[in-house]
Amino acid sequence: MGTSTLASSTPAAAPPRRLARGRAPRVSPTQGGTRGGRDSRVVAGAADPSASLPQALLDAVSKKFEDDVKGVTSLFEETPATYPRPPTLPVAGNTLDIAQGGHEILLEWALEYGNNPAGVHEVQMLGQTILHVVDPKIARELMVAKSNEFPDRGVSAMAKFFREDQAAFVNTSGEQWMAYRKMGTASVNGSALDRLAGKVAERSEALAHAWRRKAEAAGRLGGDGALALEIDMDTATQAVTLEVIHEALFSETLDVIDEEPDAVALARSFRRFNEANQDLLNDFLQLYQRFDTPDAHRRETHRARLRAHFDARADAREALIARTGNAKDAPQDLLTALLSARDPATGARLTRDDVNLTLTEMMVAGHDTTAATVACLLTLLAANPETLHRAMREVDAACDALGGRLPSTVKEVAELTFLDDAMKEAMRLYPAVMIVVRKADDGVGGELGEGRVRIPEGAGMWISPYVMGRLPHLWGGDADDTRAFRPERFEAFRAEGAKEPEAFMPFGGGPRVCLGSRFAMLEGKVTAAAILRDFDLELTPELAGKLAESKGELPISYAAGLMSFPEPLRLVATARAASAASDAR
Ligand code: HEM
Repeated sequence: MGTSTLASSTPAAAPPRRLARGRAPRVSPTQGGTRGGRDSRVVAGAADPSASLPQALLDAVSKKFEDDVKGVTSLFEETPATYPRPPTLPVAGNTLDIAQGGHEILLEWALEYGNNPAGVHEVQMLGQTILHVVDPKIARELMVAKSNEFPDRGVSAMAKFFREDQAAFVNTSGEQWMAYRKMGTASVNGSALDRLAGKVAERSEALAHAWRRKAEAAGRLGGDGALALEIDMDTATQAVTLEVIHEALFSETLDVIDEEPDAVALARSFRRFNEANQDLLNDFLQLYQRFDTPDAHRRETHRARLRAHFDARADAREALIARTGNAKDAPQDLLTALLSARDPATGARLTRDDVNLTLTEMMVAGHDTTAATVACLLTLLAANPETLHRAMREVDAACDALGGRLPSTVKEVAELTFLDDAMKEAMRLYPAVMIVVRKADDGVGGELGEGRVRIPEGAGMWISPYVMGRLPHLWGGDADDTRAFRPERFEAFRAEGAKEPEAFMPFGGGPRVCLGSRFAMLEGKVTAAAILRDFDLELTPELAGKLAESKGELPISYAAGLMSFPEPLRLVATARAASAASDAR
């Protein structure tokens, strides 16, 4: 990618147009003609850009082939260990351990192999050396101070070989990433955030009303005659976060909560698309993604449905912009930013595929993550009644001060400090993303911690927010306390004037830190507040039994790296007696 500065007629910067979905390196016509200089026809063609294209293509294809071959041959190379590492299998290395043991095995390895002066241990993944960073200082240096040396998440050569590169900006770097990042950031921060706060309050309130209506219709009575019903928390919170992210991207309300049929069908497709993606990612070597397996077919069916939904909105928005003649008169959301972005050098627009892909990435990144976090938060509160009641008292006081309504601006939500502590504590124990990944640019190595850690060429680096949140020596040394849900620990950090501890990193860090972190925190607290204002929560007897067996550990998994729930987190929600706040409504 060149170094030209990005300019745009829209508030957001324009991304350079991507070539062939970013798979082939960008090769300029002159490069294509002069490189090698072996073929006089090609050199002569340099004067005519179109005539030099075949050489450019050839270069791009041969580079891709080299990369792919490197990816496959590296499988069979035995790499000597520089840092401690768990026993490996030939070829697979530790891939099967990770596939089977997930987050738990990573924590075990950190405890067993990570306690060394470098603060890292090795993992072998299909021929690639990964350094799992266990020391939070080294992790911060990697993500923040040395972010220019390790700018990229890096998709392994194997992954590139076996599957389509489907990334707008989550797996890119450089100018392309920066331009997308600016547009994405503007869509969920700044002035957009207050507008979205109001929307979250409105839709969370709609969810609480829907529960009450359902309980009334079912005639379900709690012990003391109160209305009560059993709720699958993840599905419930997903409805709110899907509606809200849809609003953020398209400025359009999607009514999943009140079960508008088209909205429900879209939500279902989105869920199935994600599930199929996870199943595909879990296929050994991701090999089958190249073929039309039932999973691949399922994913394509649902992707087509999502694409049709996005295309219809893009068509309507383009027509609106054409009518008014000015993108500034259209809603200032991500869709308008993407449609009006122009390559500063060529004036080219983004392709529809790129627009679709970016919207899909933002929906995936900004919807399931927050929903799963709020589901964990509410379940942990239900499992800890004293903490639950403290959170309820805070919510009641905040609503009373607002004449009964929910906090619905950034400033009002900031008053919910205990809920903030509780959400952070939930994310310490159950971060939505299992691993943050970094890779040195162009496969070069590097060093961290003033030479304490030497990074071999081509190595990837993992930082696990899950592991960081659970290493007792980083959280006061007491193993039982580290496993316990205790929001007061974050209250203490605040009271001491300390920032959150270095080991707390559920949103990653540095320039690539989650761009939706403020939005996610706000959304999580408002959604929880709406539920706690109107309902008391308890574990179902089945879930209570499971938690007793697992010493309080919630049943989670990290299929494809994002937290999900193998079984639904079911809670009993009992309508609260009218409070001063609800009287005022
Ligand atoms: C509790 C909810 C969430 C959690 C725990 C979370 C976590 C993360 C993490 C760990 C990363 C990688 C950061 C890094 O590499 O340093 C990330 C990246 C990202 N997140 Fe989030 N996220 C959440 C919600 C959201 C929301 C609501 C949005 C958007 C509306 C969002 C959009 C993104 C995007 C676009 C990236 C890629 C950023 C880049 O590459 O520059 N996330 N998130």
